[in-house]
Amino acid sequence: MQNDPFAASHFAKVRLPPQDAEPLPHWAYTSQSWFERERERIFARSWNYLGHVSQLPKAGDYFTVEVAGIPLIVVKGQDDGIRAFFNSCRHRGTKLLSGEGQTRLIRCPYHAWAYDLSGALQAAPLVEEDVAARKSELGLHATRLEILDGFMFVAFDAALPSVAETMGSLSEEWRGYDTANLVCTRRRKWDVKANWKLWYENYNDSLHVPFVHPGSLAKQKVTGRQRASQVETDGAYIAHFTMHNGSRGLIEDDQKHALPRFPDLSGRYVEGTYYPCLLPATLFGMTIDCVWVFELYPVAPDRTTLVASSFFSREQVARSDFAQKAPYYYRRTDTIVPEDNAAVERQQEGLCLPVGLSGKFTHMETLCHAFDNWVLDQMVTG
Ligand code: FES
Ligand SMILES: [Fe+2]
Repeated sequence: MQNDPFAASHFAKVRLPPQDAEPLPHWAYTSQSWFERERERIFARSWNYLGHVSQLPKAGDYFTVEVAGIPLIVVKGQDDGIRAFFNSCRHRGTKLLSGEGQTRLIRCPYHAWAYDLSGALQAAPLVEEDVAARKSELGLHATRLEILDGFMFVAFDAALPSVAETMGSLSEEWRGYDTANLVCTRRRKWDVKANWKLWYENYNDSLHVPFVHPGSLAKQKVTGRQRASQVETDGAYIAHFTMHNGSRGLIEDDQKHALPRFPDLSGRYVEGTYYPCLLPATLFGMTIDCVWVFELYPVAPDRTTLVASSFFSREQVARSDFAQKAPYYYRRTDTIVPEDNAAVERQQEGLCLPVGLSGKFTHMETLCHAFDNWVLDQMVTG
């Protein structure tokens, strides 16, 4: 790495048109200073996906999550409003909740200060008199949370436009999937020993499919020569569309177990899969009968928590055969994700070099190129 790893001069070749361009240099995937700058310049300045409202059906339901290194509590209030609070006690900073669950009060495990679901301080046992004068100022600190078509997003930057504005036409594009009516039926986590950007790129790289998924994804017939056509976007996402037969939520051998299709799809969405990949780190797959989301949580330059969520419509979930059919969809996820994880982990190992060797993009990696250039737009100045 050179003295200043963020100097624009290092990246001139990434800026070239896709077929002439090089990928990001290796230190963008390995260096601690690059990783920390991503937190400040990317995650702290973006709308970060948090999940779907169906994950919090009742007042008092909560989960905890860490975004950009900031621990958060996401909780549904008595008024049915969903809020995101810093997961830190206003007394002396203890982490309040872990995991997920259901509660009436958020009680600190250290000195038992208790907050209601709107974040207001309700009790400070043995020291009520000391805090009485300032009680209203000592509520939990909330950060921005907005909901777009059933999906929750959090932001730490007061100046960001609303999530709806930030995502441009996305709402219109995915309208046929009726996302507010979806139910999250399963979440599964993987610890991936690779940089989060490698997973994002891999998801947008159709070139690897026959080589990394020969016995699974590649068995499904993709219609037409182009495996993935880039979709123009006007919001904080890149997108592609793949034409194929059947459901992309099932591997070929399991197509006979398909659930009924979403009834409101029209146009190209009737036969194929739409892949909006939100910036910075949320990858959607929307096919004819289900939706999945891969959430990428960077932990370290070479470590990412991957969460895969499966979604079906309320009508599908209410069917008597849902419990029998859903596992075939989960099997697809559980087959393909380890194949992709192995590919990016091996890539990470190969990127740990003391010197930079320049790479090469091809015409099948235009979306990876678009992503790498977006990353540079955030990270590099001058
Ligand atoms: S740190 Fe939470 S009650 Fe003391
Ligand atoms: Fe893959």
